[in-house]
Amino acid sequence: MPEATKPSQIQGLSLEAIAQEFGTPLYVYDGNKITSQIQALQTAFAGVNLKIKYATKALSNISVLKLVKSAGAGVDAVSIEEVRLGLLAGFQPNEIMYTPNCVSFEEVQEAVNLGVMINLDNLPILAQFGQEYGNQIPVCIRINPHIMAGGNAKISVGHIHSKFGISIHQLDDILKVVSDYGMLITGLHVHTGSDILDAEVFLKGGNVLFEAAMKFPDLKFLDFGGGFKVGYKPGDVTTDVFQVGSKVTEAFQEFCKSYGRNLELWLEPGKFLVSESGYLIVKTNVVKQTPQLTFVGVDSGLNHLIRPMLYDAYHEVYNLSNIEGNPKSYNVVGYICETDTLAADRMLSEVNSGDLIVFKNAGAYGFSMASNYNSRLRPAEVLVFKNQAKLIRKREDFDDLVRNQVVLDI
Ligand code: LLP
Repeated sequence: MPEATKPSQIQGLSLEAIAQEFGTPLYVYDGNKITSQIQALQTAFAGVNLKIKYATKALSNISVLKLVKSAGAGVDAVSIEEVRLGLLAGFQPNEIMYTPNCVSFEEVQEAVNLGVMINLDNLPILAQFGQEYGNQIPVCIRINPHIMAGGNAKISVGHIHSKFGISIHQLDDILKVVSDYGMLITGLHVHTGSDILDAEVFLKGGNVLFEAAMKFPDLKFLDFGGGFKVGYKPGDVTTDVFQVGSKVTEAFQEFCKSYGRNLELWLEPGKFLVSESGYLIVKTNVVKQTPQLTFVGVDSGLNHLIRPMLYDAYHEVYNLSNIEGNPKSYNVVGYICETDTLAADRMLSEVNSGDLIVFKNAGAYGFSMASNYNSRLRPAEVLVFKNQAKLIRKREDFDDLVRNQVVLDI
């Protein structure tokens, strides 16, 4: 359960000084938090042969990928571009799991050529894969276990109406394709959603995998996906990874006995590894009083942090420039030309224009979901690593914005 903290430093470095050096808006990541989260999972699942495949989509900066690699994790990629980022970061192809959804067969072939593990989630492409490669290329199958899980409907993906995975009810069809083409199935995968609290959900997903697995004699691993919930606000209940670890380990060991071999257990955490490491630091442009509310207008918006508007996500926020000041109620809003409330009705220490405002839990799906909406530039990113603040992505400039535009002579 997270406490209400308002960090003014990361690894002994002042956040204010970092913001001064690199400017705002700025994403700052605490590298130690990322590695300690990886270690926590490694400890929680010490009883099995665990492989962590970091869900790159959460935060895909190459330096972060290198850090993740140095801590002993691999990569979960959803696009050929994420595969390439993983390779660029130094991962071996066999450390990369490629789990696309509704991509073309050409993209799948490209991934095969790059030598990464392929995870297929529909029958037509599975059949095409079988036809093309037979038993030459090992492949994993994403099963939709039909479990309702995850924080809200937008991020729940294992239910009956979801586009993801091949329905467990179509297991016979899967087996037919596999046998028709003599395919080599070395992994089975489930991922049911994000913000999952409950060990039971992982066990339910596991049980679906365990049962299906008995029909696939060549397995090397079972992949339980990601979705561990982290705390976004004080008092939030979070996934107890040690409880999940001990329950899943017990069930997995039991399964391996009946399967007759020890398999690897794969996990694909995104949020759990990087959410809490990240801080989005923005600057107050204006404090605007209306008859109803006081708005803090900042030099950022839904273009940089879309989670509040997209999922009603709650990100803790505090005034870094006045940590202990008198609390007042504010709505923190962005500079975008539509409603972009980043934090509604929050008590912040009195805010004045120029003050630095910090959003917590900005590591996962913050920068990676940022856009150039309103022709605004995307922020810089800084990684605090070995007690030093290092720039890991330059702030965009106007040239970046117009680079790919082809201006007609009109
Ligand atoms: N594996 C697969 C196949 C996934 O689709 C995802 C997330 C993950 C792993 C990692 O899930 P995590 O551990 O980060 O919860 N943008 C949303 C979440 C959508 C995630 C999509 N897939 C958010 O900001 O909450």
